[in-house]
Amino acid sequence: MCGIVGLVGKEAKEIVLNGLTKLEYRGYDSAGIYLNDLAGNEYLTKTTGRIQNLKEQMQTKEQGLVGIGHTRWATHGEPTDNNAHPQFDQTKRFYMVHNGVIENYQEIKDKYLKNIIFKSNTDTEVMVQLISKIVQEQELDTFSALKQALNLIRGSYAILLIDNKYPDHIYIAKNKSPLMLGLGHNFNIIASDALSVLDQTKTFIDIQDGEVGDITKNNYKLETLDGKAVAHQSYQVNIDPNAASKGTYEFYMLKEICEQPTVLHHLAQTYLDQAGTPQVDPKITTGLSRADRIYIFAAGTSYHAGLVGKEIIEELTEIPTEVAFASEAGYHFPILSQHPFFIFLSQSGETADSRVVLQEAIKRKIPCLTLTNVPNSTLAREANYAMSLEAGPEIAVASTKAYIAQITVEAILAKAVGEKLAKKRAKDFLLKENLALAAEGIEQVLSTQDKIAQLAQKYLVSSRNAFYIGRGIDYPVALEAALKLKEVSYIQTEGFAAAELKHGTISLIEPGTPVIALINDPLTADLMRGNIQEVIARGAKVITIASQSLAKANDDIVLTNLNYYLSPLISVVAAQLFAYYTSKIKGLDVDKPRNLAKSVTVE
Ligand code: F6R
Repeated sequence: MCGIVGLVGKEAKEIVLNGLTKLEYRGYDSAGIYLNDLAGNEYLTKTTGRIQNLKEQMQTKEQGLVGIGHTRWATHGEPTDNNAHPQFDQTKRFYMVHNGVIENYQEIKDKYLKNIIFKSNTDTEVMVQLISKIVQEQELDTFSALKQALNLIRGSYAILLIDNKYPDHIYIAKNKSPLMLGLGHNFNIIASDALSVLDQTKTFIDIQDGEVGDITKNNYKLETLDGKAVAHQSYQVNIDPNAASKGTYEFYMLKEICEQPTVLHHLAQTYLDQAGTPQVDPKITTGLSRADRIYIFAAGTSYHAGLVGKEIIEELTEIPTEVAFASEAGYHFPILSQHPFFIFLSQSGETADSRVVLQEAIKRKIPCLTLTNVPNSTLAREANYAMSLEAGPEIAVASTKAYIAQITVEAILAKAVGEKLAKKRAKDFLLKENLALAAEGIEQVLSTQDKIAQLAQKYLVSSRNAFYIGRGIDYPVALEAALKLKEVSYIQTEGFAAAELKHGTISLIEPGTPVIALINDPLTADLMRGNIQEVIARGAKVITIASQSLAKANDDIVLTNLNYYLSPLISVVAAQLFAYYTSKIKGLDVDKPRNLAKSVTVE
């Protein structure tokens, strides 16, 4: 959470502000920037709200040849101007932006900073005051003081620090929160992700955990916290910066929903050959085929993609598969089989909850594979193996295309492993053909947007609560569909196994309660119709989404027939559109729902 950008060596204001705008997905409840013109003038502007607010508050004269900026998702201290970053010390010499959480900030405050009057409630101010105190009391240079302070600190951080006595340096540090150094000609730029500054440079170095740096316009020095020099190979990021633009769409969420057919075609091209045979690193298929149990760890939407993946993997490989919330598994580790294999699903590749499980798995030498949309992300780097989701940048906070990409890559893996294990069901699974059909099916759902918008207006927009119900593979889709609707529309929505309603929750159905029913499981379609009648009898307004072969004349949305296990690739799209239009009609900020952030780097 929180996005940071720093630039040294050229006019920094616009570049830092642009970078922060692109990082807003990481948090957007307050923002700030510090600029220094290297001629004795410095400017600090901080405000609650979005980067747009920050831009509006800044004056033309506020310029600098060095600058650091921050967009915040509050952890310690509510979103106020004072709690916004950059934070500074009491002598107003040091300015710091920070992404992460300092766990022992209270202990540091009590032990070392008793006489200091704090201006904010942030853990970050504790760090910057500590550095200032070390510099003053021990007459250390800033770089050494930073290292000394960090040796006392426990927690996660990506830090940028400016000392206004030596303002042509940006000092940096990283532990658990992402930080990349972008190399330019006569300037250097540091940011939480490469995409935010791709218009400045394509050459990057990933700063590793436990490293600190001293960055100037033509130079950079990296060390470990105990002072050993480190060197990393730089690499080129070859993403088209336009891939991250909204184009003609009003919101990224709709753009990303509409990109889903392309994502499926692209995944088929990347991971399947002409004959439809999976092209997967043999080390991964061999590792998985030797497993006696597969464990999938993820959070939120990715967890829901894991639940669908479990069904596909078990069907095609016959390897028992478990799915767990990373946030729970991290501190209550599952009892493992003899030959476990771990899969981490993460759009961002930065989710702190998943990283806790990964760290434990590394200690226990369990083979780990990360499926992520960000190939150089922390979870990708730290696992034994990684596969890219190839969905292109996903900017809207609500995940859409990464979800279908995760299910698709799980299906590719399942087919690869199943074929290696000579499972007939894997051989017979026409993945390539079904992905092409799914892409067409999504196009067909996209063509019903007007109808979905009308249904959303009629049944959802003024409702306080809603339900998605489904059976079989539709149940995990109902969970994802409910998450999508609640996170962007603020309508309290539950995803439910349809037959479970009658065991208690049906008491919540009142006249007018919207219930969206998914009907894609041939085995339970008739039973599902019965479950629909049960809620209608209690006054629910039901919207039905059904596969063509199971559809009845008055179903609302009819979907192209697809292999049962892949049907979520289409059915979820209708749910994404219901969420999108409900939020849009309510006049909400679809791409940036309140209280959320895209990359959740705190536990
Ligand atoms: C919801 C959403 C979140 C993420 C979750 C995990 O639309 O996007 O639930 O799925 O925070 O994030 P990743 O996939 O980046 O690990």
